[in-house]
Amino acid sequence: MSTRPVRIQPSILAADWADMRGELERIRNADQVHVDVMDNHFVPNLTFGPQMVETVQRVSPIPLDVHLMIEDPDRWAPGYAELGAFSVTFHAEAAADPVALARRIRDIGSPPPPPPPPRPRDTGSRPSIPLKPGTAVEPYLEMLPEFDQVLVMTVEPGFGGQSFMPEVMPKLRVLREVADREGLDVWLQVDGGIAADTIGIAAEAGADTFVAGSAVYGAADVDAAIVGLRTAAAHAH
Ligand code: DX5
Ligand code: ZN
Repeated sequence: MSTRPVRIQPSILAADWADMRGELERIRNADQVHVDVMDNHFVPNLTFGPQMVETVQRVSPIPLDVHLMIEDPDRWAPGYAELGAFSVTFHAEAAADPVALARRIRDIGSPPPPPPPPRPRDTGSRPSIPLKPGTAVEPYLEMLPEFDQVLVMTVEPGFGGQSFMPEVMPKLRVLREVADREGLDVWLQVDGGIAADTIGIAAEAGADTFVAGSAVYGAADVDAAIVGLRTAAAHAH
């Protein structure tokens, strides 16, 4: 077992949206809340936009990890940094200039809204780039210093409740090796099908940051589910 940190990020895609404040309170022992923004163009599903995310930001006891599955992130992603998101993930396939956009996100230092979420730096959101299951990792390796997080999608983006894809684990191993070799403090995140029986596979391959929707909100005891995921990941590191 190593000392690599474990971060658990419940996805509110699986929450009861009629009681968003209550659903956020239930996960206060998680590290961040994962917020899936879908525009029905980049993926065939529609969730919510800046106004709802701003509301979540205002009432959430933990910081927001915003996952944008939208067209034209060059236009929209900085707005999520401005409203105080801890990290902003945008699909490079949709961005005109991913490096320029990452730099803009890092430069945006919005004043923490009340209640102030904990942030590791004084200013700036953390830019994050996802790799869909079919997207190769190699073209993105030279951009790694520009990002604070890389998301290795373990399902096709668009819907919760899908099955974990172990075949993408080699990408995580490559990222972990490069990040460790180059001494980069980049979080390696996985999203999709993460549950008690799969989180160890991703942790062992090098992930340290875990999104879980149905495995948390579908559990009878949400607290216990978060603790169980955390423990299973820590044992696999
Ligand atoms: C899927 C979303 C995920 C989703 C995960 O496109 O990016 O964040 O909420 O849900 P589960 O954990 O149920 O697979
Ligand atoms: Zn997501």
